[in-house]
Amino acid sequence: MAKTAPFYTLGIETSCDETAVAVLRGERELLANLVYSQVDLHAKYGGVVPEVASRNHLAKMPILVRQALEQTSLKPSDLSLVAATHGPGLVGPLLVGLSHGKGLAYGLGIPFVGVNHLEAHILASRLMDEPVEPPFMGLVVSGGHTSLVEVPSFGTYKTVGSTVDDAAGEALDKIGKMMGIGYPAGKEIDRLATEGNPKAIDFPRPMMTSAGFDFSFAGLKTAVLYHLKKHPREKVEDVCASVLASVVDILTKKSIEAARRFHQKTLVVVGGVAANSHLRQRLTADGAGRGIRAVFAPISLCTDNAAMIAATGAYRHLHLGESHEFSLPALPSLSI
Ligand code: KG4
Ligand code: ZN
Repeated sequence: MAKTAPFYTLGIETSCDETAVAVLRGERELLANLVYSQVDLHAKYGGVVPEVASRNHLAKMPILVRQALEQTSLKPSDLSLVAATHGPGLVGPLLVGLSHGKGLAYGLGIPFVGVNHLEAHILASRLMDEPVEPPFMGLVVSGGHTSLVEVPSFGTYKTVGSTVDDAAGEALDKIGKMMGIGYPAGKEIDRLATEGNPKAIDFPRPMMTSAGFDFSFAGLKTAVLYHLKKHPREKVEDVCASVLASVVDILTKKSIEAARRFHQKTLVVVGGVAANSHLRQRLTADGAGRGIRAVFAPISLCTDNAAMIAATGAYRHLHLGESHEFSLPALPSLSI
């Protein structure tokens, strides 16, 4: 019987401040997964500066592509497909990765797929040791997005709720900034909260009991601002624990209700905030109590990475027959 050549996808991610390159064999076997984080560059500005991010992606991208290929002992000519994020995200940073990906695909004479970053967070679930297949309810919770997405099959998505103002990660980052915690603050708030009392301050739970599945986190941010003005000596661990108690309560209640309302038994939690240890514990325990299995990708696949971009490109190319023209634009506001 003729042996079929392995299918290798090069994935590229530059939608924000992570320069990431991955190589995938077939649909799920990750051979390289490199992430160069620019957080230190942006920390002094308290947020991502798009122009600085773009310039840095441009400098780092060729180095990462070379390193990824070296790690896998593949030659560029072994690649079968290039997949790069084309939205949503910051337009300058997106253009760097997208143009690099198109150039590689053009030079190698192989197909190119532009990937939706949000869909890719969901398809990170295919790269887990025990991959999850649809149907399921997805909770995409990151610095840019907080959405509940029903997934009857990969490639078909129905957003049943999303934030009306700040994303959960964005609110945590802004709260961290108020407290003088570095940027981004989510990971540090997670750590500090472990040493604090979640009942110390009764912060609001905006929209937690409202009808439907939309979220709101801007009010929590304002409540923390006023609390800190009134109580400047509040123990930072207690503030973090109380803030997370609110965020975790809201995310847990809404997503378990959404899974039940749409008759899904599995809840797949993805995006940077899915790395949160308190959220992981609560959703696992409360979900189990209500017949919902909450699953989380490993932390390296929760925060931005190119493995999920490669997995999504490979899926869309191999199962949906997709490939894009080189005229495909960067779409900063692309939705799922
Ligand atoms: O998915 P991601 O890397 O980038 C976006 O697509 O936005 O998510 C970044 C967000 C940031 O807001 C960061 O503070 C948050 O994820 N984050 C966390 C944790 N690790 C990262 N939030 C809470 N707990 C964590 N352990
Ligand atoms: Zn992301």
